[in-house]
Amino acid sequence: MIDLKAARLLDQNDPLKTFKNRFTHQENEIYLDGNSLGKLPKSVLSKLEDTLQNQWGKQLIRSWNENWLELPLRLSKKYETLLNASDGEIVFGESTSVRLYQILFALIESRNYPNQLITDSLNFPTDLYVLQGLAKHFSKLSIQSIQYGQEILADIEQLKEIIQTKPGIICLSLVTYKSAYCYPMKALNEWAAQNKSIIVWDLSHAVGAIPIDFKKTKTKIALGCTYKYMNGGPGSPAFLFVQKELHNLLQNPIQGWFGHLKPFDFDPQYKAAQGLERFNNGTPSILSMQAVEAGVDLILEAGIKNLRAKSVALSEMLIDEITKELETLGFELESPKNSIRRGSHIAIAHPHAWQICQALIQGDTLAPKIIPDFRPPHFIRIGITPLYTSYEDLWWLVNQLRMIVTSKAYLNFDEAKSQVT
Ligand SMILES: Cc1ncc(COP(=O)(O)O)c(C=O)c1O
Repeated sequence: MIDLKAARLLDQNDPLKTFKNRFTHQENEIYLDGNSLGKLPKSVLSKLEDTLQNQWGKQLIRSWNENWLELPLRLSKKYETLLNASDGEIVFGESTSVRLYQILFALIESRNYPNQLITDSLNFPTDLYVLQGLAKHFSKLSIQSIQYGQEILADIEQLKEIIQTKPGIICLSLVTYKSAYCYPMKALNEWAAQNKSIIVWDLSHAVGAIPIDFKKTKTKIALGCTYKYMNGGPGSPAFLFVQKELHNLLQNPIQGWFGHLKPFDFDPQYKAAQGLERFNNGTPSILSMQAVEAGVDLILEAGIKNLRAKSVALSEMLIDEITKELETLGFELESPKNSIRRGSHIAIAHPHAWQICQALIQGDTLAPKIIPDFRPPHFIRIGITPLYTSYEDLWWLVNQLRMIVTSKAYLNFDEAKSQVT
């Protein structure tokens, strides 16, 4: 096993090391949540303080013209830069679940694609629920959820064959939430286009974790949350990307006033805004959006390619340690070994995963608390967020996992699970 001194040396030589200080941390605690909620950037505190004290507190309604109306547009531009989208191809607002329903509804109603929804069992439950809800609404719509031979990886040949034989609208999570498996985005977009189909990508576990280029990958529609690797805060609004040529073919099923051509004319008749702005609904959530901006600014400053390089280096060290140190203790690697097929978290399985997670979180007198997350039936997800994850953090993780299992310290914890894991 790599020793603590060597891990610290790697941290000293890390070109991104100063970013750790730009986040708030708890003493004696290592955050490896994988990744349900990113950490709080320090700059959010001053931004929100200004928004509350000056903009809301003093300027009140005037702040819409002075600051707030342009905030979602500014965010969209920053995400367009990060993801290589063209001007006007991203809008902000709502949760990923609501956005997914809206955009799938619009695609189905456009009648440009066969009446078939396809997803797979690796997708996040909310995506599956949204698809099931749509199938209830559109009686002629059929829905297929592909089961692969294994729990953690997609079988791309099987997926392609299904797209070819039953084309339609496909919804996939680019990086899957359990194993961090990452699909070949460009190849699948091309395959879908050749087969009268379209893929709607959920990027919740991918944005900020891996470089994504919408133009190069020929992506048509994508969306995702901003509270994971983008550090936008709990419940921060989602983004929606739609390639320009589709804008005027799609109608927003929620005809809210912020999607009107001229919202402040208060016209009693709805007229859709030009372009993707028609997918706006109601008043944007300004407080949350301020935090989203602080998060994306940090990613742009560090550079997504640099972040990815550090994520791969950290992940490879961890995989190496898992193979050498932990497999004999009953742990199994549940994420792809090949970094091209992997996002930025590592999943490991153990029959006592839930109790081991509780022991990690509690820490002990000699070691920091470590916060991973648990996913049923027996996965521990370890989030690698290169803005603030260090080699030393991973050293402690491996050390504690080994200690908890060899000493059977996990037996001190209940097998029954709590709600938020
Ligand atoms: C892949 C994926 N999609 C969607 C969601 C849920 O998004 P929201 O709560 O914004 O609807 C999550 C939440 O973790 C997720 O991992």
